Parts: sequence; C-alpha cells; structure tokens
Amino acid sequence: MQDQPQQNRRDFLKLGALAGTATLGTLATGCFSGDRVVITTMTERDPLRTPAMKTVRIGFVGVGGMGTNHVNQLCKVPGAEIVAVCDVVPEHAKRAQDIVEKAGFKRPAAFDKGPEDYRRLCETVDCDVVYTATPWELHVPVCVAAMNAGKHAVTEVPAAYRIEDCWKLVELAEKHSRHCIMLENCCYDRVEMLFLNIIRKGLLGEVLHGECGYLHDLRGVKFSKDGEGLWRRAHATRRNGNLYPTHGIGPVANYMNINRGDQFDYLVSMSGPSRGLQLFQQDKLEKDDPRRAEQYVLGDVNLALIKTKLGKTIYLVHDTNLPRPYSRINLVQGTRGLMKDYPPEIHIEGRSPGHGWQKAEEYYAEFEHPLWRSDKVKQASGGHGGMDYLENYRLIQCLLKGEPTDMNVYDAAAWSCLCEATERSVAGRSKSVDIPDFTRGRWKSWQPLPIVEA
Ligand SMILES: NC(=O)c1ccc[n+]([C@@H]2O[C@H](COP(=O)([O-])OP(=O)(O)OC[C@H]3O[C@@H](n4cnc5c(N)ncnc54)[C@H](O)[C@@H]3O)[C@@H](O)[C@H]2O)c1
Repeated sequence: MQDQPQQNRRDFLKLGALAGTATLGTLATGCFSGDRVVITTMTERDPLRTPAMKTVRIGFVGVGGMGTNHVNQLCKVPGAEIVAVCDVVPEHAKRAQDIVEKAGFKRPAAFDKGPEDYRRLCETVDCDVVYTATPWELHVPVCVAAMNAGKHAVTEVPAAYRIEDCWKLVELAEKHSRHCIMLENCCYDRVEMLFLNIIRKGLLGEVLHGECGYLHDLRGVKFSKDGEGLWRRAHATRRNGNLYPTHGIGPVANYMNINRGDQFDYLVSMSGPSRGLQLFQQDKLEKDDPRRAEQYVLGDVNLALIKTKLGKTIYLVHDTNLPRPYSRINLVQGTRGLMKDYPPEIHIEGRSPGHGWQKAEEYYAEFEHPLWRSDKVKQASGGHGGMDYLENYRLIQCLLKGEPTDMNVYDAAAWSCLCEATERSVAGRSKSVDIPDFTRGRWKSWQPLPIVEA
C-alpha cells in the first residue's frame, strides 16, 4: 500500500483537454453507448448531466438482503423498470424476478450462471443503468463492467475500499461520461433532511463542525450463516480502520458542502483493541465451529478526525462489534447553534431556551424537507423508514429529467476512500493521511446541494 495519495498522478489532463474546446465553462462530450451517441455535459456549476430519458431500464446485480429491498422500492418508483437480475444464487434471482413480475412488469431476464455472469448482463442487456448490491469486493468490478458497456453504474455502500479503486471509478466515469453513483440512503433519512433544510435556511450560521459514524451492533449479522455473515466478517480478519464510513459521513459531507464549496483535506485515525468478535466466538459458537479459529484485527472502535480545506473539523466513528444501541451520531455545529440525533435535538441561539435542547420534532412544521412533506413520497415510502424509497426516487427523477444526480462519482469516491485513509493512519501510529481531491479542484466552483421538491 502506498503512503501518498494518488492525486498527483492524475493531473486533470483529460478534462483539461476537453475544457480547451468547450465554451462558457461547459464540457460537452460525445459518448458511444450501444446504438446511440449520447451528449453529456459537465459545467463549472454542475457535475455530470446526461440526456433526459423516458424510462430508466435497470439491470440489477446482487439481489440478497439489500438488493431485494431495492428491487421492491424500484417497482414503486415512477419511470423505473427492472429488465434483468443477476445473482450467483439462482433462488435469489428468481425471487427478484417474481417481485418484479408481481408488481405488473415484464418478467426480467435472469443471469445466474456463476460469479462472472454480471459481465454478460452488462454486455448484452439493453438497459440504461446497472445497480449492484453485492458484497463489497464486487462493487468496483460490477461498476467497471457496467461503465465499459456504456451503462450508468449505481452501487451500494461503500463504492470501493481502496483509494486506487476510487480513482478508477472517477476516471472511468469521466472517460465514458457515465454516472457512477453510490446509494447512501442515510442522506435521505427524515432527520438528516430536516437538518440540511435548517442549515440551508441559515439558522445554524456558518457550519464549523460535524460528528458522525456507524455505531451498530453487527455481531449477529457478521456471524450469521447467510447474507452478510458469508462475507462481511472476513474483512475484520485483515483490515483495521473504518470499514463502513459512508452512512455517517454522507449526510455530514452534505451539511458541510464537501465537493461543493469545501473539501476533505487530511485525517488522523486510531483504533482500539479487538475484543467483541472474539468474545462472541467464545460465547455463542459451538465448540467444533471452524469460525472459532478465526482471528480478527479490526479494532472494535475506530475513531477519525478529519480536517477540511476550509479548516473545519469532523469526528467519525466506526463501532460494530460491541453490544450497544444504534446510532449515527449525526451532529452538526455552526456559529448560531447545533443539532444532533439519537435522540434528535436542536439548539439554536435566540430560539431555544437558555442553553437547553429542543426536540427536533418542534421544527418539522416549519422546516420539514419538501421531499418528506410530499404525499407522492409518503404514500410510496418504505425501506429503513422511507429513506430507501426516497434515494431511488430521487435518482430515477434526476435521470428521467437529465439533471445532475444528488450524489455523484466524486461523492462515492470521497466518502468511500475514508476506508483506506483510516487504515493507513491506524497502521502508521495515527499519522496524518492526505485525502485525495477526486474533483481535482472543481469543488471550489460546484454549488452546494439545493433543497429540491418532489
Ligand atoms: N444502505 C444500507 O442501509 C445497506 C444495508 C445493508 C447492506 N448494504 C450494502 O449492500 C450490499 C449487499 O449487502 P446485503 O446485506 O444485501 O448482503 P447479502 O449477502 O444479503 O447480498 C449479497 C447478494 O449478492 C450475491 N452475490 C454474491 N456474489 C455475487 C456475484 N459474483 N454475482 C452476482 N451476485 C452475487 C449474493 O448471492 C447475495 O444474494 C453491501 O455492500 C452492503 O454494505 C447497505
């Protein structure tokens, strides 16, 4: 693993060359996709925008726990149609086919001929987008196969866990002018969207600090004999850092305009001892269970401190091996007050009494995000309290209208690269590690995410 981030090797050559031929700061690129040439644009104001579509046809790779959830949501999203599904477990593919057919669509084609069959899906199916909700190792290979076949790529979290792979996704998305989107559902949860709206309305003043993380007792999931138990625990045997940063950092990055006015600069990270999974082995597994022989290196609690280019600070935690209630912390502090979650509470100078908290509930009447107010969304909501529907709804809306997506390849890369950045810092006695700027300076002109209507 190299110590230096990779951005020096990537010097904006391709986009620089394109910019030379563009007018008024707009990059217009032609890309051959199947039998049609599509015109796509990227401007100083907007990241990638692709032509409007009538229907978004989807090939879906990996229909286990989360993939099946997405299939259910997408069947309810106007304008989306799942035309193919792929899984190494044929029953999983069949289950997804049944869901789509029962929802009134044509039965999607199944690709269940082994671990590489997603390539055949990418290369042969006439679709616009390839989604993947596979184990972490497969996100990059599936996205790469999709983009090389002229499709947009959509992946579950994290998009990648190696910095080199984050660059690969960015470079390929730019080369082919394809979207490569990581679905970070927590950006769409009700409290996160309330906080974003309050920040945009200026109540918090200038945002200076965030605290976030993924604090979830996953011991049962990691030792399950199906689903994530088949692959997730293995990462704890060889990696020590923050393995799952995006649920926490995604919303905070939006509050702090990361990639859109500010940028991550560097981090330091520290992991504590590894005890939780070992104790679970001893307490819960049969004496002859081969998993008792596994050894783990993942510290139960990993902490990171991130400094942004504008000098702001973020505290990020990963804590998934110990008994504890669920939390993503979700704290954001500005010059005029602060907001936090678990439970959701707000203190705004001049509004909140003394130095005390108010329940966030009191702010919904005035500051509920328009997407959460919308009947269209409320009626169809589902999955993790509604946010899983909303993230798919927004993505499909943006693709249908030809608008820049809320989350883009630069967000996927910036949020996901924290996996390796924390691992490098931990391995180096908490040394400071530079965080690559995948936008190559364009964060200075890209605009903060707007508050959108349904
Ligand atoms: N955003 C969220 O809230 C959330 C929640 C759960 C999981 N996830 C993410 O979703 C992804 C999947 O997690 P999960 O819980 O659904 O896991 P899972 O193990 O239940 O599902 C993975 C599916 O991929 C299939 N698969 C494995 N190798 C394959 C291959 N080569 N080709 C095609 N299919 C293959 C498996 O058979 C399985 O059906 C992970 O990235 C995870 O981090 C996100």
